[in-house]
Amino acid sequence: MRIVDVIEKKRDKKELTKEEIQFWINGVVDGSIPDYQSSSLLMAIVLNGMNSKETAYLTEAMMYSGDVIDLSVIDGIKSDKHSTGGVGDKTSLALGPMCAASGLKIAKMSGRGLGHTGGTLDKMESVPGFSCYLDEEQFIKQVNDISIAIIGQTAKLVPADKILYALRDVTGTVPAVPLIASSIMSKKLASGSDTILLDVKFGDGAFMKTVDEAKVLANAMIEIGKELGRDTKAMISDMNQPLGNAIGNALEVMEAVNTLKGNGPKDFEELCLQAGEIMLMQGKKATSKEEARTLLKETIKDGSAFEKLKAMFKAQGGDVSYLEDLSKLPAASMQVTMVAKEDGYISNLQALEMGTLAMRLGAGRATKEDDIDHAVGIVLAAKKGDFVKAGDPLAVVHTNTELTEEWINDFYQAYTFTSEKIEKDPIIFAVLG
Ligand code: URA
Repeated sequence: MRIVDVIEKKRDKKELTKEEIQFWINGVVDGSIPDYQSSSLLMAIVLNGMNSKETAYLTEAMMYSGDVIDLSVIDGIKSDKHSTGGVGDKTSLALGPMCAASGLKIAKMSGRGLGHTGGTLDKMESVPGFSCYLDEEQFIKQVNDISIAIIGQTAKLVPADKILYALRDVTGTVPAVPLIASSIMSKKLASGSDTILLDVKFGDGAFMKTVDEAKVLANAMIEIGKELGRDTKAMISDMNQPLGNAIGNALEVMEAVNTLKGNGPKDFEELCLQAGEIMLMQGKKATSKEEARTLLKETIKDGSAFEKLKAMFKAQGGDVSYLEDLSKLPAASMQVTMVAKEDGYISNLQALEMGTLAMRLGAGRATKEDDIDHAVGIVLAAKKGDFVKAGDPLAVVHTNTELTEEWINDFYQAYTFTSEKIEKDPIIFAVLG
């Protein structure tokens, strides 16, 4: 087989066979296919697409390009949840412990933040001592012992995706449903959980800009899950504004802890509850949404979810006194309150811009090599649909550097106000699968 023939076939809008896709992925991993040919094939896929069969073949070939984790030695149903990424998305830190305290086994691999999106591992590393580097044996033991572990993806998991994602990043070939779906699902499938809940975000802070685009991606991933025998569901959730109030690593850990104590922002708590309902039903811990919601709320009321969070941090070396006394977490040297300049309802609060502003304070990375500042970020005091008077706080900025005029201008640019009353959007627009 010659890769040039495979490229030409896709250029001519023909369906690729399983063998052709496997040949390509083998060549990507063993280095026999040069980047320029893979880039050309990637672009042909962006332009001409792949059907669901080809997408499933690609996912399977990528999944088996490295280690596939066997979680069968852990009793019970292992559940995973994956967000397509957003601003202020600390869901795993609250939802994971709530589900584990409700009886599920959460064996989760998470990522780091890049650009305007945050990463769970960076947030967790706000707590001194915490390590996301467990080997497979330690990971399995921890899930068996305390029902929850959140770790970094091991180096040998889906090497094909590491190579292809780096190539896509620099060749304009990231935004294509079959490529995004196979990239995400190959990693989810290789990490071994029995059930997968996908939180597919839409909006200005997400890959997919509209509900309809998000549904197309969600359905492609559900289809892959079905083809490869994994219970996969998806929820379509709003990322037109940040999730919850806190953006920034330690600030988001605080918000997750507050949520587990019943004092979290309502939109964030609601997303966790609705996601938890789906996960508990997938994991056969509840037979209805109502029953699941009652169980989840109970874990907040009786403190068991917070205890799970602490148990996880402790098992992974974290100093839990930082969770018990949140004032010990890294704090910025300055807190600047940004106030509204006019009266009105907030009609827009751009997630992408807010994420970028937090990154510019040091909360995120512009490139993979950047260090991050765990202390800095933004805590919103008002959100879309809220009425503010001139002089009312919009947000508190936690910073270790003086805010520049440019930063302040960009902050205000992220807001739009109107005199008309605005309805608050729901947090979840649809559940699929
Ligand atoms: N996240 C991934 O893991 N892969 C993509 O292609 C896009 C988002």
